[in-house]
Amino acid sequence: MTTVRRMLQQALRVSGRSAFPLVKWMERWAERAPVKPQALRTLDDMPGPSVASFAWDLFARRGLSRLHELQLEGVQRYGPMWKASFGPILTVHVADPALIEQVLRQEGQHPMRSDLSSWKDYRKLRGHNYGLLTSEGEEWQSVRSLLGKHMLRPKAVEAYDKTLNGVVSDLIAKLHLRRRSQGLVSDIGSEFYRFGLEGISSVLFESRIGSLDEVVPEETERFIQSINTMFVMTLLTMAMPKWLHQLFPKPWNIFCQCWDYMFEFAKGHIDQRLTAEAEKVARGEEVEGRYLTYFLSRTGLPMKTVYSNITELLLAGVDTISSTMSWSLYELSRHPEGRSIPEAKDVACMPLLKATVKEVLRLYPVIPANARVITERDIQVGGYLIPKNTLITLCHFATSRDPAVFSNPDEFQPHRWLNKDQAHHPYASVPFGVGKRSCIGRRIAELELYLALSRILIEFDVKPDPEGISVKPMTRTLLVPENVISLQFIER
Ligand code: HEM
Repeated sequence: MTTVRRMLQQALRVSGRSAFPLVKWMERWAERAPVKPQALRTLDDMPGPSVASFAWDLFARRGLSRLHELQLEGVQRYGPMWKASFGPILTVHVADPALIEQVLRQEGQHPMRSDLSSWKDYRKLRGHNYGLLTSEGEEWQSVRSLLGKHMLRPKAVEAYDKTLNGVVSDLIAKLHLRRRSQGLVSDIGSEFYRFGLEGISSVLFESRIGSLDEVVPEETERFIQSINTMFVMTLLTMAMPKWLHQLFPKPWNIFCQCWDYMFEFAKGHIDQRLTAEAEKVARGEEVEGRYLTYFLSRTGLPMKTVYSNITELLLAGVDTISSTMSWSLYELSRHPEGRSIPEAKDVACMPLLKATVKEVLRLYPVIPANARVITERDIQVGGYLIPKNTLITLCHFATSRDPAVFSNPDEFQPHRWLNKDQAHHPYASVPFGVGKRSCIGRRIAELELYLALSRILIEFDVKPDPEGISVKPMTRTLLVPENVISLQFIER
């Protein structure tokens, strides 16, 4: 028995908890840890591709849409840490759960994701305020605390279930309709985009915007299109040095037009909702809002801050949900064996459904690479000294597909999350992030996913498209299915 195991078992016997899973991964990671303390190395000592070869990978080898695969190639070539220049930006990649933990444990009081984002540049250019995704420091902290009360507390989130269930009912009705007219439901992703937008809108405005109607309002389609294009342009504009923007202004201009429309769309809905509220008050009627726009508008924050926050929440709630829904049904439809597909009876015991979503987000983390910039001080990670203000890329796609952490990492095996003997490093798959800056929409997202997936699986036997192909993920800032997914929805 190793010393690590003995020490941990002693400690855990005292606390009365089962030692095995924790001991197992501690041992595994202890084996991986360097045996002798090494002298601190600098960025000069860190391996990585040359600027030219990385630029070649990005632009000539379709690297922008394969950034998640480049993570795997990076680990193979350089080990768990390497540096690379993403356009004008030097970034340190970290692709090991224990090292990601080291970074996140040193992130300080007001963690920063990225200082160099084109999202911030756009807001500065147009004179918009920042929302939760883009703000920093005290400004971020104050809005995070205000929103946290309505988005992170379990009781507050439970209160959205009726609203969300109304949206789920509309999705089910739409699937029945499309199934009847077409048999096969082609391009389920487009339906889930609308579901995602309608879901987040219902939470933000407590009113419906018609995304799941038979005829979808034109502005809704345009909003969804704007999100898609904005995500494609995000990576492109960030990878291009500023001088190249002068020569090829198109990507930046399109990027700005998309954001313009998204801000306009959100403002239109917020104004409409708050005007209706004000009219009620003027008529002496009682107003009791249960939606996030209402809560935010009552905090005394400037309206510009309300607009930018609601725009960013709208945006954050669409692709994340639609992509996870598409992958969940894609994988479930292809794994009919055993109890992989939760049936009505399984839904009552939600652990399997929860494990399914965990497994889907391990295989297809919506945010395949996250980032941190530590501004307060230099930090040490994996024996390297990382100077403050360095952009650190956290390679979540690589860690969640690491065979040393997850056996058969490319296989869809939801039961791995239910098997107590299969413990994984807690930072190996963190699809919602960890800590103070982690996803504020997590509870709402999970509720929405569980409600929608369980209802779909009760209503339909979901089968693959007999002529369908195997679908791979691609990076579009977020990780999304590369091809259209079509599925058979057979009524139960
Ligand atoms: C499957 C669904 C989702 C996934 C996997 C996901 C994942 C993430 C991740 C990884 C982050 C970055 C965390 C970090 O930097 O540590 C994040 C941030 C964020 N997410 Fe989500 N998200 C999801 C759904 C949502 C939804 C539905 C909303 C809105 C209701 C939302 C709103 C946000 C916001 C506002 C932030 C920024 C938080 C901050 O900077 O303080 N997310 N999300």
